[in-house]
Amino acid sequence: MLEQSLVIIKPDGVKKGIIGEIITTFEKRGLTIKEMKMTTLETDVVKEHYAHLSDKPFFQDVIDFMISGPVVCLILEGPSGISVIRQMVGATNPLEAAPGTIRANFAFESGSNVIHASDSVEAANDEIKRFFA
Ligand code: TYD
Repeated sequence: MLEQSLVIIKPDGVKKGIIGEIITTFEKRGLTIKEMKMTTLETDVVKEHYAHLSDKPFFQDVIDFMISGPVVCLILEGPSGISVIRQMVGATNPLEAAPGTIRANFAFESGSNVIHASDSVEAANDEIKRFFA
């Protein structure tokens, strides 16, 4: 079944100059770009997005990181899009991400792991509204 995912190329991905490489990876897989924009996120939007982490000691660091520079937001669509894209992204901690995944290829630390992708259809629906209102 076709599913949409909300993907964010985080500030570290933009700074590293790998926007194109990441998008190419998704395009080559056959995923469709439905929407795409570069923007700098507002604190409130990031707080809402990461509300499930609000009691974690690293919460403020995550907020500061996500507003530290421009990001690229995308809506990607494909068959089983949620799980396919999460597989391509890899584990939250890049040191534990499977070889060949985006986080394994481009990052070392959870705190700057290059990319976000929705983890369920329900989350994707909320996140698409949040970032493409
Ligand atoms: P989470 O939603 O658990 O993971 P994912 O991004 O893989 O869906 O966490 C959101 C972000 O919070 C994660 O991408 C990076 C940051 N984070 C840390 O900095 N340290 C951590 O220990 C965890 C779990 C997350």
